[in-house]
Amino acid sequence: MGNYFAKFSAFGSFAPKKILTNQDLEKMVDTSDEWIRTRTGMVERHIASAEEAASDLAYQAAVSAIESSKVKYKEIDLIIVATISGDHAFPSTACIIQKKLGLKNIPAFDVSAGCTGFIYACDIARQYIENGAARHILVAGVEVLTKITNWNDRNTCVLFGDASGACVMSRAEPSDISRIIDSKIDADGSQGEYLVQAAGGSRLPASHETVDANQHTVYMEGNRIFKNAVKSMYASSDELLRRNNLSALDIDWVIPHQANLRIIEALADKMKVPINKVIVNIHKYGNTSSATVPLAIDEAIRAKKIRRGDILLLTSFGAGLTWGSILARY
Ligand code: ACO
Repeated sequence: MGNYFAKFSAFGSFAPKKILTNQDLEKMVDTSDEWIRTRTGMVERHIASAEEAASDLAYQAAVSAIESSKVKYKEIDLIIVATISGDHAFPSTACIIQKKLGLKNIPAFDVSAGCTGFIYACDIARQYIENGAARHILVAGVEVLTKITNWNDRNTCVLFGDASGACVMSRAEPSDISRIIDSKIDADGSQGEYLVQAAGGSRLPASHETVDANQHTVYMEGNRIFKNAVKSMYASSDELLRRNNLSALDIDWVIPHQANLRIIEALADKMKVPINKVIVNIHKYGNTSSATVPLAIDEAIRAKKIRRGDILLLTSFGAGLTWGSILARY
């Protein structure tokens, strides 16, 4: 533990206007509304336009979070963006957002941890706040996965949507009830091959062949990921609760990664948390990867479900494989 405590000051989110429904997908691949609903819980998802890139979505979420936090723009000390579908391989999407926000002379960097990206980024931000290196940090999770989706692959194309969620994490004052209680991130690189965008990096640079073979799009062995998802989210959540002498009964809200309703229900069951204490919006957005958790929190705050003082458990898993959880009093 450092010299200070960190807290979530406020959240913001943004999703593009265009909506793609299960019925739309029925016209694109051999699938059905019934299959998608019953196997995933998804009904519709938001899709970025040709002109919208990750930084455009993240900028909107960032402005919303900063405005809600009452922190002044110039008080932000650091920007961390979790994404695997940033505007470019470089510069980082965080640097682009710094420019869009009109900020200068503060560090900005991206974090790559698949769907666990926001949890990773918050875990990093927490260290900066707790050791006194920063007072206010903008953390965003943003994904435009529909631009790296193989629209002929029914195994993956029905799953993803585009969105961004952001928070301002700040140093907690001694009088604050809000604070990050604990966090834990983890990875198992030996299982990375099950969820991968194979081409476009230094292993398999872009070529006509890689484009023809669809290697710039998401490849996923859904079954293998499914099995790990519940196990890993449960393990890190359980450890956080144990080492803070808390039980599932103490949690007001679980905010899990929204990848599949069956995964969410299995996690709630294993944790012995009633499903009405779990924030679920997968039916409206699909899997927006690193954006799911902050987007779900922001919606729940604005709907006055999550209130100041509530105990939150954020948990996610994704490409890497990676997973992690955060325990916080909002
Ligand atoms: N429509 C109709 N049928 C389909 C579709 C579809 N869209 N997709 C797959 N099927 C078929 C398969 O072809 C298969 O048919 P078969 O039995 O004839 O071979 C059958 O449905 C069952 O396929 P499974 O893959 O076993 O289906 P499952 O119940 O596992 O659901 C799913 C697939 C939804 C992908 C699930 O495995 C899942 O959610 N996995 C986790 C994904 C995930 O969480 N990813 C997170 C990280 S994403 C990131 O980090 C970028």
